This record gives sequence, structure tokens and C-alpha cells, in this order.
Amino acid sequence: ALRASFATKAQKVNQNHQHHFQPQASFKVAVLGAAGGIGQPLALLTKMSPLVSDLHLYDIANVKGVAADLSHCNTPSQVHAFTGASELANSLKDVNVVVIPAGVPRKPGMTRDDLFNINAGIVRDLVAAVADNCPDAFIHIVSNPVNSTVPIAAEVLKQKGVYNPKKLFGVTTLDVVRANTFVAQRKNLKLIDVDVPVVGGHAGITILPLLSKTKPSISFTDEEIEELTVRIQNAGTEVVEAKAGAGSATLSMAYAAARFVESSLRALDGDGDVYECSYVESNLTELPFFASRVKIGREGVEAFVSSDLQGLTEYEQKALEALKPELKASIEKGFAFAQKQT
Ligand code: NAD
Ligand code: LMR
Repeated sequence: ALRASFATKAQKVNQNHQHHFQPQASFKVAVLGAAGGIGQPLALLTKMSPLVSDLHLYDIANVKGVAADLSHCNTPSQVHAFTGASELANSLKDVNVVVIPAGVPRKPGMTRDDLFNINAGIVRDLVAAVADNCPDAFIHIVSNPVNSTVPIAAEVLKQKGVYNPKKLFGVTTLDVVRANTFVAQRKNLKLIDVDVPVVGGHAGITILPLLSKTKPSISFTDEEIEELTVRIQNAGTEVVEAKAGAGSATLSMAYAAARFVESSLRALDGDGDVYECSYVESNLTELPFFASRVKIGREGVEAFVSSDLQGLTEYEQKALEALKPELKASIEKGFAFAQKQT
């Protein structure tokens, strides 16, 4: 149901308008980095949600035009523009969900970790403002390297005395979206039916699709597992190379981030059946942060789907052990960056 939700929700919005219903639009969503490649289409998709009453668009530049443009869409939410550091605090007042896609994207030949030097400071400063202005909000971190920027965000929130691990999410939805697409194509399945949990982190081999846990239950040859796993792990690089210097995934990322926002809003609205993969503080493994399926409720992460990590195939078990040193190093790099600031 969740996977079909955009079309369905959009149709509902149209119907509501035709019948002059007042839709239940009550949540405020802020996008930090809203004028960027991800920010703009994410703002558009979020503007289509009947659950959103106010959409706060923040960027250091170019956000007024984006907001004026979007505000003409006849969907329920009101669009507000905030430009530059002096307007950051106001962009966060009373916000329920903050999405952070601010920062630089990769060019061919770069790893996500090559973005650390620029993006770590951007995420640190934006999350500090979140801590000061809407410490109770769900925080969705998109900016790369996610494996390190989420630990940085956690440290900043701790330093501010407002860290709630249940409400800090690294957005790994795009890995699930890709896994679902590639598996459905490879196995000739209806897209709507396919759901592949993806665990670990969000870079290279730390992205671990658990193909043995695919729903519906299907069997893969060893060759298919190898080919699909590698394609899912390298899918970001596939887009970076195709864009040839013009950036990384923006449209599929906006789609994925909008799905994660919609899931979060449904959870905040009391839906008791919301499950998504996300990179969160976790004790499923010995690593302090780990992506897995989680149940999301009004207070954030309610439960971990620990069964996903049980009964793994030998291939998955090996890949899980192999990713841990890299993920651990990325987490520690994030912690060290945030700690040396104080
Ligand atoms: P982009 O350069 O097109 O847009 C980034 C935007 O951030 C720009 O509008 C810029 O003005 C803004 N920005 C920069 N510093 C800022 C600050 N201090 N405060 C507010 N806004 C600021 O880049 P993009 O393609 O949108 O990618 C953004 C980030 O998302 C990159 O780090 C990229 O690697 C990451 N990303 C993550 C995933 C994922 O799966 N988690 C997927 C794709 C991209
Ligand atoms: C992605 O997976 O597409 C993003 O993390 C962007 C990138 O650098 O690959």
C-alpha cells in the first residue's frame, strides 16, 4: 500500500479539491537545502501530501523562487521561504519533521566519504539549529556521507542535551527503492509486490540488501544474488557516472525521501503499521548505528525488525561481517569530528 501511496494520495488530493473537503493537513515539514537538486523535487512531492499543512523551505540561496513557484500548486499546504542563516531558526519553529539534503554531491571518481570535509560542518550547524528550535522533531538526514553525518547529528544533539535516538534517522530509503526496482525487473515481478530489506549503511559494501528476505518469497541463483547485490551497492555511482559531473541521484532520491516523510507523517498521525528501513542508533549488532527495518510510531522508532538479521544465507552473513569495519570507521570519524569541535 505504501509503495503505491504517491499516486493514490495525489488522486485523493484532487478528489478532495473537487468536493471541497478540508483534507486532514496538520503537520509542518521543513526541508533544509530546499533549492538543491534533491530539495526541489522533494518539496514538490511533499507539497502533494494531504498530511502536510505547512512546508518550510530553507536554503542559503535561491529559495524564494522555488517557494513562489511551488505555492501555485492547488494542494492544501502553505509554502514558506527562508533564506540564509538569519532565517534558519524561524524555518524550524513548530516543525514536526525536518529533512536535511543540504550539502555537496559527488562527481565521478569520488566516494561519499570524499564529501565529509564540506558536508560534516553543514550537517553539524543545521542540526545545532534543529536542537535549539524544534528538538522534538523527527530528523531525516540525507546529506552524505550518511554513515558519518548521522553520528555527527547524534553528537550535536547530545551536546545540546536533546538527543532522542528514536527520532534521528539516516535516510536509506533509496537503497530499498533501488533493490525493489532491480529485483522486480530481474525476476519479472509486479513492482508493487516487491519489498527487499536493505541493512548496514549507505555507501558501497556497507549497503547490504537481504535478498533472502525478499517479499514475496522468491529464489535467486548465486549469479543473480551477486549481480543484484553489486548493482544495488553501486547504484549511486551508476547515476553519478551517467550524470558525468552534474551531480548524483536527485529525482529518485527525492522520491525516496518523500516516501520516508510520508511514512513518518502517517506514524505521527497514529498509523500503527509503518515500517521502513533506516540508519538509526541500534543494538542489533555491536555497531552503535546500523540500518535495518524499524517500526515507526508517534514517538519515532518503536521496534527493530530483528528477525531480518536471523537466518541469513552464508553470502549475507559474510557480507555483514565484511561491512562492519568500514561502517565502524565511518561512525568513529563522525563522532571524532563532532567531539573535536567542543
Ligand atoms: P545540490 O548541490 O544540488 O543541492 C544542495 C543544496 O544544499 C544547494 O541548494 C545548496 O545551496 C544547499 N546548501 C549548501 N549548504 C547549505 C547550508 N549550510 N544550509 C542550507 N542549505 C545549504 O546537491 P543534491 O544533489 O541535492 O545532494 C545533496 C546531498 O544529498 C549530497 O550530500 C548528496 O551526496 C546527498 N544524497 C544522499 C542520498 C541518500 O541516499 N541519502 C542520495 C542522493 C544524494
Ligand atoms: C546515492 O546513493 O545515490 C547517493 O548516496 C548519492 C551518491 O553519491 O551516490
